[in-house]
Parts: sequence; C-alpha cells; structure tokens
Amino acid sequence: MKHLLSTADLSLEDAVLILDTAAEMALLTDREVKKLPTLRGRTVVNLFFEDSTRTRISFEVAAKRLSADVINFAAKGSSISKGESLKDTALTLQAMGADAVVVRHPSSGAPYRLAHADWIDATVINAGDGTHEHPTQALLDAYTLRAHLAGPTGSLRGVRVAIVGDVLHSRVARSNVHLLQTLGAKVTLVAPPTLLPIGVEQWGCAVSYDFDEVLADQDAVMMLRVQGERMNQAFFPSTLEYSRLYGLDTPRMATMGTNSIVLHPGPMNRGMEISADVADDPRSLMVEQVTNGVHVRMAVLYLLLGGMKESAS
Ligand code: NCD
Repeated sequence: MKHLLSTADLSLEDAVLILDTAAEMALLTDREVKKLPTLRGRTVVNLFFEDSTRTRISFEVAAKRLSADVINFAAKGSSISKGESLKDTALTLQAMGADAVVVRHPSSGAPYRLAHADWIDATVINAGDGTHEHPTQALLDAYTLRAHLAGPTGSLRGVRVAIVGDVLHSRVARSNVHLLQTLGAKVTLVAPPTLLPIGVEQWGCAVSYDFDEVLADQDAVMMLRVQGERMNQAFFPSTLEYSRLYGLDTPRMATMGTNSIVLHPGPMNRGMEISADVADDPRSLMVEQVTNGVHVRMAVLYLLLGGMKESAS
C-alpha cells in the first residue's frame, strides 16, 4: 500500500498491523530519547487547505519523532481556483522532493486527485477531505477503543459503539464506520433524520433517531462536532433542542454502563453536543485520543514510507 486515502481500503490485517505498530510506537514515549532514526533524510509535507490544530501538529510530531524533515504548508487563503491551486502546489512539492504529503482539503476527493493525477510520486495521506474521510482519526479512535474495551486478543469484535450527531457532514463518522466494521465492532449511528446522509441504510450499521433508547447498550459513544461551517441551511430548530435530544450531559451519561467510555475527535462545542461536565469526566478520553493520534500517525508514516506489504485483498 502506498497511500492512505480511505479506511475502506484497509483489510483487517492492514488495520491490525497499523494498530499493533502504533502500540510499539507508544512504548517510545516512555523513553528519555523519543526519536527513531527510521525516516532520516525523508521529507514529509503537511499540506493544509483547511484549519486544523490537532491533526496538523500531531502529524508534525509524528514525523519528527521518526526523524523526517517536516514542511508545514498552510495553503488556506489562496485566490487561485481549487483544482489549479492543488495541481500547482503538487508540482512544486514534487520539484522539492517531498516523500509524503499529508493533505487536508475542503473538497471531498482532493487527496485522490493528488495521489492519482501523475503530478507527484509522493505517498499521499488523507488528513480530512471535505465531508468524506479522515482515516487517521478513525485509526486513533480504534486504538483508543482497543486500549479500553478489547479483550486479551486486542479484538474489537462485538464491541458496541454509537456514533452520535452530525453524521451528514462528518468525515470522522465515515472513516469510523468502515474501520469499525472491518474490526468487527457493532456500530449504531444516532442523529436527527436531517443530519443523516441519503443512502445511510446501505452503510451496514444500525440507525436510531433516539439517543436515550440506545445509550444504555453501548460500550462507547463517539460524539461528533456539529459542523456549523458546512451547514448552509438550518438542520435543526435550535441549539437548545439539539443539545436536549442529541447532546451528552451528566444526567444522560448516568444512564450509560459503568465501564463505557466517551470519545470526541475535537474540537468540541462545549454545551452543544457535549456538556462541559461530561467533557471533563474521567470516562471522556479526548486527551488520550490526542496522545494516541501521534502513535497512530507514526505507525502510518513508518509503514507507508518504510514499505507496507501489499495486502492480499
Ligand atoms: C475533525 C475533522 O477535522 O474532521 N477534527 C479533527 O481532525 N480532530 C472533526 C471535526 O472537525 O469536527
């Protein structure tokens, strides 16, 4: 495998290899010298056409821990039309000898164009494309679920995960649905009908409009940010109504199983999809997710640039 564009491209073996490699990378964190020489002399470009805090910094830390040179290219604000600007940028990166390009773009499919248009030879890693996919986020979520909920074999088979909120605009939800299903977890999407995509019944997971009805049965709930910047119309009557029906607050959290956990990819809208109390509860694992993100991205860079074996699928 050369690129990581979608979690739908990962076989079970690929996904487990990435998660196991990430666990090995995590062991590095306990050492005084946190660096591996593996990618010395290789150049990783962070090409971000959309805002990001966590993901960009996480890729930067991951690449640096593997001793790669890192270039941060914030392309937001360009006046050139999107297709042209992506091509011109790609040609520039090719001329500079980029070995990997980590790309975030507001248009779904932009990383595919970059990977398959013959503009560059570099490995392309999708760091979020429009409302489509965000594969390393799903991998770090799976890593976090595994750390808390998997049995001794590390399998997530049968683990029940609800993905709650703005599924329509969420690349995190799409990537998680593919990956969690590959790993054998049981996924339930919970959202108002207006925030579910057309054709969601073909995704192969359960769908509910009633958060309270499904909450007690979940091992984990993944709260999604309401993506105001992608909404050009009203998808729900008011913030208050949304948070009353689909937000996770303390009384609602009290109905969850005592060992169940809460994830959120960040950035959180405190008071909207998650209350401040729940965000700061010990069973909410947002900070741990960020730490795990570095390990997972190290594993992805290591395997893709170091030569991940072609999977049989
Ligand atoms: C997510 C994203 O950008 O897709 N954030 C992230 O990468 N941590 C989710 C979001 O913006 O809601």
